[in-house]
Amino acid sequence: MRIPLHPRQSHAYTSGATEILYGGAAGGGKSYYLRASAIRWALSAPGCQIYLFRKTQPELKANHLRGPSSFLELLGPSIARGLVRYSETAAEFTFANGSVVHLCHLQRDGDLHKYQGAEIHVLLMDELTHFTAHQYRFLRSRVRLGGHDLPAGLEGVLPRIECASNPGSVGHQWVKAGFVTPVPERTVWKAPADEGGMHRQYLPARIADNPTLTGNDPGYLRRLKGLATPELVRAMKDGDWDIVAGQAFEMWQRERHVIDPFPIPPAWTRFRAMDWGSSKPFSVGWWAVADGTTAGVPPGALVRYREWYGWNGKPDTGLRITSEELAEGILKRERPDESIAYSVADPAIFGSHDGPSVAERMARHGLAFKRAVNDRAAGFQEMRSRLTGMDGRPMLVVFSGCTDGFLRTVPNLVLDTHNPEDVDTTQEDHAYDEARYACMSRPWVASPSRVASRERDRWNRAFTGPATDNWRTI
Ligand SMILES: Nc1ncnc2c1ncn2[C@@H]1O[C@H](COP(=O)(O)OP(=O)(O)OP(=O)(O)O)[C@@H](O)[C@H]1O
Ligand SMILES: [Mg+2]
Repeated sequence: MRIPLHPRQSHAYTSGATEILYGGAAGGGKSYYLRASAIRWALSAPGCQIYLFRKTQPELKANHLRGPSSFLELLGPSIARGLVRYSETAAEFTFANGSVVHLCHLQRDGDLHKYQGAEIHVLLMDELTHFTAHQYRFLRSRVRLGGHDLPAGLEGVLPRIECASNPGSVGHQWVKAGFVTPVPERTVWKAPADEGGMHRQYLPARIADNPTLTGNDPGYLRRLKGLATPELVRAMKDGDWDIVAGQAFEMWQRERHVIDPFPIPPAWTRFRAMDWGSSKPFSVGWWAVADGTTAGVPPGALVRYREWYGWNGKPDTGLRITSEELAEGILKRERPDESIAYSVADPAIFGSHDGPSVAERMARHGLAFKRAVNDRAAGFQEMRSRLTGMDGRPMLVVFSGCTDGFLRTVPNLVLDTHNPEDVDTTQEDHAYDEARYACMSRPWVASPSRVASRERDRWNRAFTGPATDNWRTI
């Protein structure tokens, strides 16, 4: 079976590394390369178990099972001759020599258990940045030879991992940090033991490296240039990893934004913010407004000093507790002398469909919320401004213990590809929404129109002091 490769693909094909990222520009021939590689290893190592992952099943099918260079086309003649069997239900190609190419998708961490017992000889990850570091690490831990006998010449070559990816998306930062930045491109280096200890290599793929595309479809480059933002064009056209690549909060830096807990001085204003959820997680954040008396935290900065993130340990899955339990849980987490100036929550909790609203039920338990300002674009900008801060000092910092909600989810959020003024709301964005409400309750710069339009309903009047128009107002 002959599968033609372009020169850059051949470099990857013959590389001596065992953990490769073939990455960069859109259309650089990455997915094709992974298919070619799957077939190559299946043929050259009898009994080889090859797992090819893509995040979702529709993407897997569209990318690898349809079109002129799909698996079905490349393997068509062998399937016709009975040398390869394709099972659509199992999503597997079984070769006469016992090798199997498993086509897999992995959308949620909850699906990882399916691969708990797997013995993966060759792991192929398409669009690696669509996966989280946790998912990748788990799958990498399944990469082992077990009792598999290798043909002569393949010792040290298998087991192996080959990944393909464009920059951007949820995994941009960890993929860049793990593969792209540590050493110059193409260099093979040994990853640290706690990072798998394999021989790692980053091989850039550019559009120019794929003559099939540039020859057959010269308009492709023009279409890429029409992408939403110049950053996205650079990421997709040039495979540039030094871009913010769709990260919603590219100014986020752990060293600057995460601080060790300290006792909040009693004089600081404290407030709560909440994004309610039941089957989805809720997020409750306790915030304090710095008054400039604590070193390193500028006056007016928001300090997230505590959180209660209502998830059951599985991403984006809520606790399904009652409003009463939620109210009690919030109060239980506070010290008796903790004085909270006000609480804001998503407007949805004020809706009453059948009986008292969530807000009313929580109020009966001593927790009164006012309606948060839910202007998504303005809230996004407020949060970005605060994270950027002034003179290199952020105006929003987070205690290092806020790991369930904020620190796990907010730094990973990516932009909505259709609307650069908002995050992609299909992600786990509850801690972000809650933080956005917190920011909007003390906007960065007072805009008269925004302040005037801010709703002052009966909750506001009853439970808050004078409206706070500016973070400079402590
Ligand atoms: N060596 C090759 N021989 C023939 N066709 C090829 C070869 N390499 C790539 N192609 C074709 O070029 C097109 C783009 O390649 P591919 O889909 O692999 O790119 P990609 O880098 O994965 O793109 P994306 O960034 O969009 O995922 C596809 O139609 C693919 O079949
Ligand atoms: Mg691809």
